[in-house]
Amino acid sequence: SVVDKGPWPHYMRKEIEEQPESLGRLLGTLVDPGANALKPLLEEIDFAAADRIILLGCGTAHYACHLASYWIEELARCPVEIDLASEYRYRDRPLTGREIVIAVSQSGETADTLSALTALSGRVAARLAVVNVPTSSIAREADAILELQAGPEIGVASTKAFTGQLMALMAVALKAGRDRGALCDARLAEAITELTSVPRIVADTLRLVPAVETAARRLAEASDLYFLGRDVHYPIAREAALKMKEISYIHAEAYAAGELKHGPIALIDEGTPVVVFDNLGALHEKTASNTAEVAARGAEVVRIGPEEGAALRTPEAGPHATGFAYAVVAQLLAYFVAVEKGTDVDQPRNLAKSVTVE
Ligand code: G6P
Repeated sequence: SVVDKGPWPHYMRKEIEEQPESLGRLLGTLVDPGANALKPLLEEIDFAAADRIILLGCGTAHYACHLASYWIEELARCPVEIDLASEYRYRDRPLTGREIVIAVSQSGETADTLSALTALSGRVAARLAVVNVPTSSIAREADAILELQAGPEIGVASTKAFTGQLMALMAVALKAGRDRGALCDARLAEAITELTSVPRIVADTLRLVPAVETAARRLAEASDLYFLGRDVHYPIAREAALKMKEISYIHAEAYAAGELKHGPIALIDEGTPVVVFDNLGALHEKTASNTAEVAARGAEVVRIGPEEGAALRTPEAGPHATGFAYAVVAQLLAYFVAVEKGTDVDQPRNLAKSVTVE
């Protein structure tokens, strides 16, 4: 059946490995590969009239929102606000009525996300749900939905739903950019080509399994782990730390690389593991110098990136597609550290797949 583990020891591993397929399926609903164009998408939502996009979610979905906020600002030139649904629902927020709200949720049943969305009924221009379960409460509450097409996700730690959320939100950023006249045809085409490359990039990234297993054996001995990223890779670092905490029970923290000097560097000691998501392009040197700073204080650095010399060398990919490769490495790292520690990967202690009470 679809919810069989097949040859894999855990659902989480199966769901990690399924991503080229689940992302290919989602891509098929978003992009017309022949024309290298977006398929008709969310035609009922006019992003040109929006003065702000508000992204809401919890846990892993919140980190997908965080990464998407960079993409929407860059590609759609639209101001974005992100918040945890559990915080947003109690804020006394000034609204113009021209906001577009996007609630992101794998299950579509998270109580905080549903409440935040319900409270905005009639107060904003449109409420979109990005969900994996189209019959869910959040999907029914929303004015429009975008389905992740990930198939059932059983492992408590979200994997294929996360990369699906990223892909769906990237498509939203492109549709918004087109609506708002922020993207010329050439840039739109380039971004669509990049999006189309994602299932292949993810498949290539999965070849890193043996290297990740080796890295994980060492990380499993740590009591504290740090993940560093800048710009679009900062949300990935946060998701990596969440995954690690959830299933390996190792204390893990994510920091924006530039924030290191404002506190966390005090914690870096001989042998402290620091996992770094490298930046491409203009910010490359900045992240490299942050990495050098922790290495000089004795940190055991695990560098992730497409460059020669990286401990975990990811495939060459465009600036947006790289985040997908890094997300997969983060999943594999948490997974193999948990396996090494012998924790209950699919059913970590104290956690639920879907939190339907406040
Ligand atoms: C729980 C799960 C997380 C998930 C979060 C939001 O905490 O353990 O993996 O990210 O809920 O779930 P949702 O279904 O709204 O995406």
